[in-house]
Amino acid sequence: MPTWILAVFAALALIAPAHADGIAEKVTLCASCHGENGVPVDAKIPVIWGQNAGYLYIELRDFKRGARASEVMAPVVADMSRDEMMALAEYFSKKPWPNLAQKPADAATAEHAQAVANSAQCSQCHLAGFLGASLVPRVSDQGYDYLLTTLEAFRSGARANNAWMTDLMKAYSEADIKALAAYLAGL
Ligand code: HEC
Ligand code: HEC
Repeated sequence: MPTWILAVFAALALIAPAHADGIAEKVTLCASCHGENGVPVDAKIPVIWGQNAGYLYIELRDFKRGARASEVMAPVVADMSRDEMMALAEYFSKKPWPNLAQKPADAATAEHAQAVANSAQCSQCHLAGFLGASLVPRVSDQGYDYLLTTLEAFRSGARANNAWMTDLMKAYSEADIKALAAYLAGL
């Protein structure tokens, strides 16, 4: 084997741990809000453990671009490279989804939500069990307060990074959205 190849391997071995340390520092920062064990420290903060990697990356990118406005997340991602955001997305997607111990929606609420979900064909994109895949988020068992806030934000246009979700939520009432949030949280 030519010696220059050995030199490249040696250099990579030096770089790799430094790179991992960079992510580790970020992960500690994320944990201060998204939770040490995946349970967010506040009900308005979303679960990111076990979320689909493609979706996690798209959100970090959108926070950085300002396409998804958040005073909290914008400074977190401001100086991040694409590679760092991809690495964080991969890292958190491999964690297990935490147990938020949310109660299933009562029968009337579940029926209301299912009627809305059928008419809107949510499962065309969010798939069976609302687990999503790739760029489409898992929304089952996400925190109730966060779900309600973000669905209302799509509806009002405060969250403007997905025209489809905004148009869809505009077609439904506040009561429909509350039922959806309660139903998804309890799945
Ligand atoms: C100071 C608290 C705080 C810190 C630190 C923080 N986040 Fe967040 N994060 C939030 C809040 C609040 C939201 C919801 C923003 C909104 O919808 O307006 C959020 C949203 C997100 C979302 C969108 C999730 C979804 O379901 O749409 C992702 C992805 C995310 N954060 C990843 C991270 C990562 C990765 C880190 C560490 C590099 C991090 N966050 C650090 C508070 C924080
Ligand atoms: C045409 C595909 C499509 C349909 C139909 C659809 N969604 Fe979505 N939904 C998406 C995509 C893609 C996103 C992620 C948008 C982004 O990049 O921020 C999303 C985001 C969401 C979010 C935010 C998740 C988070 O973590 O912030 C919720 C909640 C949600 N959808 C619920 C629903 C519900 C409930 C229905 C049916 C009433 C529905 N969606 C129908 C594609 C769809």
